[in-house]
Amino acid sequence: MIPYGRHHIDEDDIAAVVDLLRNGMLTQGPAVTAFEKAVADYVGATYAVAVSSGTAALHLAALTAGVGPGNSLVTSPITFVASANASRFVGGDVLFADIDPHTANLSPASLRQILNANDSVRAVVPVHFAGLPCDMSAIKQDCDQAGALVIEDAAHAFGARYPDGGMVGNCAYSAMTVFSFHPVKAIAAGEGGMVTTNDETLFRRLLRLRSHGINKLDDPFLVPEQAGPLNAPDPWYYEMQELGFNFRITDIQCALALSQLKKIDRFISRRNELCLRYDRAFENLAHAGPIQRQGREISAHHLYVLGIDFAALGKSRGQVIRELQQHGIGSQVHYIPVPAQPYYRELGFRPEDYPNALSYYERALSIPLYYDLSDHEQDRVIRAISELSE
Ligand SMILES: Cc1ncc(COP(=O)(O)O)c(C=O)c1O
Repeated sequence: MIPYGRHHIDEDDIAAVVDLLRNGMLTQGPAVTAFEKAVADYVGATYAVAVSSGTAALHLAALTAGVGPGNSLVTSPITFVASANASRFVGGDVLFADIDPHTANLSPASLRQILNANDSVRAVVPVHFAGLPCDMSAIKQDCDQAGALVIEDAAHAFGARYPDGGMVGNCAYSAMTVFSFHPVKAIAAGEGGMVTTNDETLFRRLLRLRSHGINKLDDPFLVPEQAGPLNAPDPWYYEMQELGFNFRITDIQCALALSQLKKIDRFISRRNELCLRYDRAFENLAHAGPIQRQGREISAHHLYVLGIDFAALGKSRGQVIRELQQHGIGSQVHYIPVPAQPYYRELGFRPEDYPNALSYYERALSIPLYYDLSDHEQDRVIRAISELSE
């Protein structure tokens, strides 16, 4: 079976984890710090905080951005549910701006309308869908004007670049950027996430919240008289300064992720090659074509999403998925619009209110894209897709 996505593990990755198991720490230790530094250096951010998942990273980013009861977070309807859930975790409301039909990314024009109509917006979470960076300069300008913080959801975009050449995650356009190291992503930690930022206050708070809200680095004590003599605090003393979590990632996961990071350029460049091959192969298909035609040179190519006119094809999406399965080819839909999820419907959302997202959803199908996909396997996928209308 050719799946729609798959991680790549080599002997170096295995050796790195085995070495860690033999010689390292099992929980949070030096490998976490090393991975944070490596990611901060790679993307060009001052600080990085590694956590247990991309979802935990979004949760902490929303909390530190000040999202909570009485305010709201805006995101895209075409994303994984976690981008929106981040606001709900911390008691905030969610608003959705529609997508741009040409990129499937958050539409700056739709976002502007939402920002103009709602003064409750505390944070905006643009999602770099399938690895293609959003129009960050437009989004940042509008968010600055509205007094909203930007948290980039770059779960798909580790290794992507902005049009100005900077790496996604350098936070030139945002307060924080969030990554995921789930196995279908650019590099795998098993499970894992990261928040990058250039803001020291946010960084310190993220560190505390990752681990129960307990003081970290040289955070001053809030009740110093409990700590013993003022100039020689008791060495065992610590303070839980606010309600935090156990969102720690382990050294085992970070040993794997550090080893994977060494291969990131190869990973992205092969994905790019595969996308360009697909683009060429599907150029003249009657009923299908790539959704994201632009930005191949800057995208991290997390997904290859075909837009298929199922009505014109005379087959439902279910039929197409099953037909591909019979050829040994996996496919998936990214994503069911978040407002269509029962939980969000219950809150009053309706997918029809986001027409571009809805029409995208009616056509979308992600086909296999991953580092180890061979040319030969890709040709099988191309053939099966091309033969759908026969
Ligand atoms: C856009 C987006 N945001 C957030 C997440 C959450 O990441 P994780 O699975 O690491 O919790 C995902 C994961 O699939 C995602 O695709």
